[in-house]
Amino acid sequence: MYATKNDLPEKTRREMIELCNARLADAIDLQTQTKQAHWNVKGPHFIALHELFDKVNDDVEGYVDLLAERAVQLGGTALGTVRSVAQRSTLAEYPLKIASGRQHVDALSSALAAFGKVVRAAIADSDRAVDDDTNDIFVEISRGVDKWLWMVEAHLAPEA
Ligand SMILES: [Fe+2]
Repeated sequence: MYATKNDLPEKTRREMIELCNARLADAIDLQTQTKQAHWNVKGPHFIALHELFDKVNDDVEGYVDLLAERAVQLGGTALGTVRSVAQRSTLAEYPLKIASGRQHVDALSSALAAFGKVVRAAIADSDRAVDDDTNDIFVEISRGVDKWLWMVEAHLAPEA
């Protein structure tokens, strides 16, 4: 831990740094999964999905930055290299051999839902720790992830 004039108790900061780094690993994993979908999707809905997945990526990149910088603000070190996050991510491996829009929509919506679930738990944990600012970050991320899950998952509805 680095010294800081931030007035939050050290115990709280220590807990929140750990929590931010845990979800940072998931967020970076999610970001690469989103790009994987953006690059490899094929089929009749190609351009819509290709562009949608890139918009998801843009927002997830923002969540990555929020989490990494919060860990450092609290006196910690952001653990954000690919090799470090690969060992700690709680997300399932993204399938590498899928191509169709439906397969990527299914895989990416599963990843968004899994990330959404652990972020919602982080809302509760940061609330219990009485760190309103970390809590606010998790609420913002959760709201965004729920929106993107809706936008991706809507493609799974049967066509009329
Ligand atoms: Fe691109």
